[in-house]
Amino acid sequence: MKVGILTGGGDCPGLNAVIRAVVIKGHKMGFEFIGIRDGWAGLVELDYEPFTSDSIRGLLPRGGTILGTSRTNPFKHEGDVDKVLTNIAKLELDCVVAIGGDDTLGVASKLYEMGVNMIGIPKTIDNDLSCTDFTFGFDTAVSIVTEALDRLHSTTESHHRVMVVEVMGRHAGWIATYGGLAGGADMILIPEEPFLIDDVCKVAINRKKRGRNFSMIVTAEGAYPVVATEGSEQQGGDIITKDAEVDAFGHAKLGGVGEYIAKEVEKRTGIETRHVVLGHLQRGGSPTAHDRILATRYGIRAAELIGEKTYGRMVGIHGNAIVDVSLKDATGETKTVDMDIYRIASTFFG
Ligand code: F6P
Repeated sequence: MKVGILTGGGDCPGLNAVIRAVVIKGHKMGFEFIGIRDGWAGLVELDYEPFTSDSIRGLLPRGGTILGTSRTNPFKHEGDVDKVLTNIAKLELDCVVAIGGDDTLGVASKLYEMGVNMIGIPKTIDNDLSCTDFTFGFDTAVSIVTEALDRLHSTTESHHRVMVVEVMGRHAGWIATYGGLAGGADMILIPEEPFLIDDVCKVAINRKKRGRNFSMIVTAEGAYPVVATEGSEQQGGDIITKDAEVDAFGHAKLGGVGEYIAKEVEKRTGIETRHVVLGHLQRGGSPTAHDRILATRYGIRAAELIGEKTYGRMVGIHGNAIVDVSLKDATGETKTVDMDIYRIASTFFG
């Protein structure tokens, strides 16, 4: 059995831990592995490396991905899917393990329907992939946000300011909700609930009533304001983007909502306000113990599925049980925030 492994989309802590688990378990089952470089680009361009026991040494705590990654979408450029299929045949791969989020696994799902033996492993710090309760990388991102909020708390309090902290979360506010809850945010803004800038201002103004002289606002990068139309405030504001450019999956570069909120709050309330964009810090460095264990469990189950020749599946976690679900069901629909958790976080708003 010859297996190719690739990592696609934005990197995240735990990718190397998954690779290690799949390869060690697979070697014990007699499989041979090759690492495909830079996601789907490696299969378009035939860029790969053989995996030996040496290649996977020291991987458990290592951030990023030793395979490299890209946002290449072979379905976007004519001829690329044919190249992928030809190269899979050239490499004599019996199966491809794709570790990625909705975009990477969406490609895996389509290739499976075209006859490629595919296994998917869910990765994204955003935790917005369907059919699994959690993706690895999310817990690490939440820990980084929590630590950042703890640190920002002390400087914000000393200066009696409002601090607006922008975190990742393109379509769903999982990191904002969990990080904000763990870090004691006074308000959390998520894409699932468009916000009124006046409500954010109220949090800043009302803080004195609560015996506080500072406020911490957490916003997901994909949160957006309700816009005012003809005297009344209505939903329908736009997500704030860096520029008009989109990637091969049609995603714009987000960013700027934190700055927008900070400017508006200071202008409308007169209270000194700062903003911080945590950005790619949330994706860097070592995975937490939780993510190392989750990534390892996913990798082991993926190797078992290959052994069972059960293809077209994505591993996932339901409660504390590792499961496998159809790649098709898992892709194409964003898993939005669990509003029960958001409501718990909102108890502390204001
Ligand atoms: O991987 C998802 C994500 O972390 C999003 O939350 C964010 O918008 C995006 O990646 C940023 O990606 P890039 O590395 O391309 O700037």
